[in-house]
Amino acid sequence: MTQLAVGVDIGGTGIKAGLVDIATGEFSAERIKVETPAGGEPEDIAHVVREVIETLAPSNDVPIGVAFPSAIVDGVTRLAANVSKRWIDFAAESFFEQELGRPIHFVNDADAAGFAEATFGAARGVNGLVIMTTLGTGIGSALIYNGVLVPGSELGHLEIDGREAEAFAANRVREGEGLDWPTWAARLTEFYAHVEMLFSPQLFLIGGGVSKHAEEFIPLITVRTPVQVAQLRNDAGILGAAALAV
Ligand code: BGC
Repeated sequence: MTQLAVGVDIGGTGIKAGLVDIATGEFSAERIKVETPAGGEPEDIAHVVREVIETLAPSNDVPIGVAFPSAIVDGVTRLAANVSKRWIDFAAESFFEQELGRPIHFVNDADAAGFAEATFGAARGVNGLVIMTTLGTGIGSALIYNGVLVPGSELGHLEIDGREAEAFAANRVREGEGLDWPTWAARLTEFYAHVEMLFSPQLFLIGGGVSKHAEEFIPLITVRTPVQVAQLRNDAGILGAAALAV
């Protein structure tokens, strides 16, 4: 039986959304991509999300999952590393429900991506601990143990040698400082080696837009744990948000 859900993935620069058949992880309609309103204020983002959802799922009985780049506890966003500071301790889920006039499920973007990889992608059927990381504006993380998501990890904010991991190893830093692949991979090795020491995972997965260049930098990350590219690329957040909403 087809079970449809809408997934929305809110990022610092773009908002992506799709209507997903969560039995197969396939899109049932053309995906939508729009720009994130400048400033990233809650009202402006909710307005755009409302339009996107009305296009994708006019009927009220389709579950909706929204992925967002912040730690989220009980629908409240706690951090705002790369978005407006108004999101700190903001009751995002209830705010969106009010603005959209329908129930939604609000989740962390990397948790959504990790859940999608565990359900439809590279972590499917992998036993033990898989650590999914997304390398983008920040560094997001998801812990998946025997296929079950352990939500809420924020490994991008780990402090290593007095520096926050995402402030020296995110893809934004690679672009901003014009780092070549080996130099960036050395920084990533420092990050993954630290996480490996703390968690002893079976597998690291790397997602985010830069994963389309996986062959340039993943082989240069020298840790003992296998490191693989995530399978679902930029769709992981949408797919996971939709699947988690059901
Ligand atoms: C945020 C995380 C998010 C990650 C990737 C970090 O700065 O704190 O919640 O998952 O960026 O977007």
